[in-house]
Amino acid sequence: MKLLVTGIAGFIGSHLAERLLDRGDTVVGLDSFDPFYPRSLKERNLAKIRGRAHVVEACLLDEAAVTEVFSATDFDVVVHLAGLAGVRPSLSSPSRYQRVNVEGTTRLAEHARARGVRRFVFASSSSVYGASKRFPFAEDDHADEPLSPYAASKRAAELVLRALVHTHGLGVTSLRYFTVYGPRQRPEMAIHAFCRAIDRGEPIELYGTGEASRDYTYVDDVIDGTLRAIDRVGEGYRVYNLGAGGAPTTLNEVVVLLSEALGKPAIVHRGPSVVGDVEHTIADITRARASLGYTPTTGIREGIERFVAWYRGMSR
Ligand SMILES: NC(=O)c1ccc[n+]([C@@H]2O[C@H](COP(=O)([O-])OP(=O)(O)OC[C@H]3O[C@@H](n4cnc5c(N)ncnc54)[C@H](O)[C@@H]3O)[C@@H](O)[C@H]2O)c1
Repeated sequence: MKLLVTGIAGFIGSHLAERLLDRGDTVVGLDSFDPFYPRSLKERNLAKIRGRAHVVEACLLDEAAVTEVFSATDFDVVVHLAGLAGVRPSLSSPSRYQRVNVEGTTRLAEHARARGVRRFVFASSSSVYGASKRFPFAEDDHADEPLSPYAASKRAAELVLRALVHTHGLGVTSLRYFTVYGPRQRPEMAIHAFCRAIDRGEPIELYGTGEASRDYTYVDDVIDGTLRAIDRVGEGYRVYNLGAGGAPTTLNEVVVLLSEALGKPAIVHRGPSVVGDVEHTIADITRARASLGYTPTTGIREGIERFVAWYRGMSR
């Protein structure tokens, strides 16, 4: 299969590209190396990909560059992972999130359709469930109370894609990822940031009581689910939760697990909760299990141990 993977230099994109290349697919990557976190980390993410995939450095919104990418290869599937991630940074730049995540997604889908590529997989987020108090979160929940510009941008992009399925004959699968962690996790995400602080003997800035919980999902499980979705994307619009689907883990528990895995004490500074953050996320993965055969296998303790092993290797 020939695939365009946007966001290839990022955390999830680089893992996905590696797995696609390992199984013999042809991968073209598009990434702008957005300065949200250092370029050096993204170059490192690409270490096992360079030379095996063609990586184009361009912004999603650069019409000429994206046209050229689509003219050079007849893709079977577009996997759209590029975007501005993160709830907190979205609070100060809602319009930028809207431009990249909604307009960028819309334009990419238009390019795909213009070149006859009808299969489109999109990285959405558990944050679309926003203020919902119906636990666990299921795909048919309303998801119309986003709590941050980031969440709103992901939900809006889903709705645009859903419309394009109807009007433009695209086949779209939207994957709602639940707090993904593992090697190469973005440096500002809690597990990575806390790990760094504990290792260096610096205080952890923990917002709120620490009892906020997440359905932390190990990256290998997310990639397995994404590959299954890629292989099955067809006509119509489908949406799947890709979470761990087990008991959620609180931030306080994450701190303890990291501290145990590192063999170092954690110094915790507590601050007020942050506007925009969701209190709890719990995924109902019944649909992904039934339709994709998605079966996450990595529990939080094992996943954190694997993350810490990677962190130690990287920070040496
Ligand atoms: N990591 C998670 O827990 C999580 C959870 C839910 C959803 N997601 C979504 O999954 C996708 C990948 O997340 P990630 O954690 O790997 O993030 P990431 O920031 O590591 O990767 C995203 C990549 O997109 C690129 N990018 C940003 N703006 C771009 C633009 N205008 N043009 C081209 N490339 C651009 C960045 O340079 C980056 O390499 C994102 O869309 C994110 O919103 C991630």
